[in-house]
Amino acid sequence: MGFEKISWKGVIQIRWDGEACPLSGGKNWSTGNGKEVIMSRMDYRSDLRFAGIKPFAGKVWLSSPTMHGWEQMYVDEAIRTNWVSTVGENINEVERLTAEKAGRNYAVALSSGTAALHLGVRLCGEKLYGQPRVGRGALGGKKVFCSDMTFAATVNPVVYEGGETVFIDTEYDTWNMDPEALDQAFSLYPDVRLVVLAHLYGVPGKIDEIRKICESHNALIVEDAAESFGATYRGIETGSFGDVSVISFNGNKIITGSSGGMFLTDSKADADKVRKWSTQSREAAAWYQHEETGYNYRMSNVVAGVVRGQFPYLEEHIGQKKAIYSRYQEGFKGLPVRMNPFDREVGSPNYWLSCLLIEDDAMCRQVRGEQESLFEHEPGKSCPEEILGALAAFGAEGRPLWKPMHMQPVYRMSPFVTKDGGGRGRTNAYIAGTAGCDVGADLFARGLCLPSDNKMTKEEQEKVIEIVKRCFL
Ligand SMILES: Cc1ncc(COP(=O)(O)O)c(C=O)c1O
Repeated sequence: MGFEKISWKGVIQIRWDGEACPLSGGKNWSTGNGKEVIMSRMDYRSDLRFAGIKPFAGKVWLSSPTMHGWEQMYVDEAIRTNWVSTVGENINEVERLTAEKAGRNYAVALSSGTAALHLGVRLCGEKLYGQPRVGRGALGGKKVFCSDMTFAATVNPVVYEGGETVFIDTEYDTWNMDPEALDQAFSLYPDVRLVVLAHLYGVPGKIDEIRKICESHNALIVEDAAESFGATYRGIETGSFGDVSVISFNGNKIITGSSGGMFLTDSKADADKVRKWSTQSREAAAWYQHEETGYNYRMSNVVAGVVRGQFPYLEEHIGQKKAIYSRYQEGFKGLPVRMNPFDREVGSPNYWLSCLLIEDDAMCRQVRGEQESLFEHEPGKSCPEEILGALAAFGAEGRPLWKPMHMQPVYRMSPFVTKDGGGRGRTNAYIAGTAGCDVGADLFARGLCLPSDNKMTKEEQEKVIEIVKRCFL
């Protein structure tokens, strides 16, 4: 008994106890004998469709840090002058630069975007519902409307504060929160007063519509601009649209500090409160005196040195990412795919990640489980799992689109709202034609993030494009 690896018609199958399932070209998706096929993977490098393509000499990354030299200087200065803790010139300067760039009155430098989101959510929770008792979150069982198609860090802080996430479906125009679905959510849950809104992959969402809806319901907005620093909406920077807003300087972002995040606000009182919470909530006493729960969330002056050194290159990075997006767009002409969209009338993305979406009728069959996936290649068609596998086989890093939060096991019981109303339990075993697919699930099935590293050469990108094209042969 055990696993065995076999090759069959260019497909590597791993079979259980010698019983194989003919996945390639076959229609049978189960072994039919209760034995489990755990994985099937194309052997791309010996597949004739990819003949003549050589592996990349070095790995082509999804989005890696790009250092320029100034970072070293500011970090060295911090070390030379012994300002390596959570105060110093680098911190002051990155707060000033970020507030100025985002058009906000105040910025508080924190250890991560997640920390900034946590304190932003807590602050809004306290504004809405008062200061909680110690040990209770500021949201104490209250529902919060959240972007669904985003990274988990956007929504987890709602749970840290004891709130209940309600996920709002996505629209096809920018892959962000759908205002129509938000409207539906307010009619289902009229008492909700807080919305956490992300701009996915650096593309601004439908800000005007969402703000209008929030205003009419007296709801506060926590704007997660972690991925969209430098992107604008109607010429105004993302990071300026929330009651509080957040930027991330994580290693994969448009500019980085190796880690780090920024809390943004126009209120001095809010900035002071978040700064206090982030440094263990010390009261004005000579000894350690605490009247509120504190956190160790402040950015270090060393990390701030890296962020400070990156700042002059923000626009350059955006320009490089834009060129990557345009080359993909050009290179994929004639293929049944589209790039991640944005509204050219109002939005100017930072192009952080280039993504593609396969047309519905050009999708081969693909099934994803909790950790593994299977697909069945069909000539003229492909799917994200095939393309990602092919890219990986030649040394390029892509990624599935962020799996929507309402599909995540941890949030499986959270309410989910689409533009047609409640998004859970929409099929009916006794009524035909009730298959329910929401926008988020559809994008997740058909989309993928392409290598978008600003150090990727044109030649490397051409090879990426060629690999994608060959997947459709
Ligand atoms: C949309 C979004 N929100 C929040 C975060 C969290 O930021 P950080 O990694 O700095 O904690 C990330 C990425 O890391 C993100 O992509």
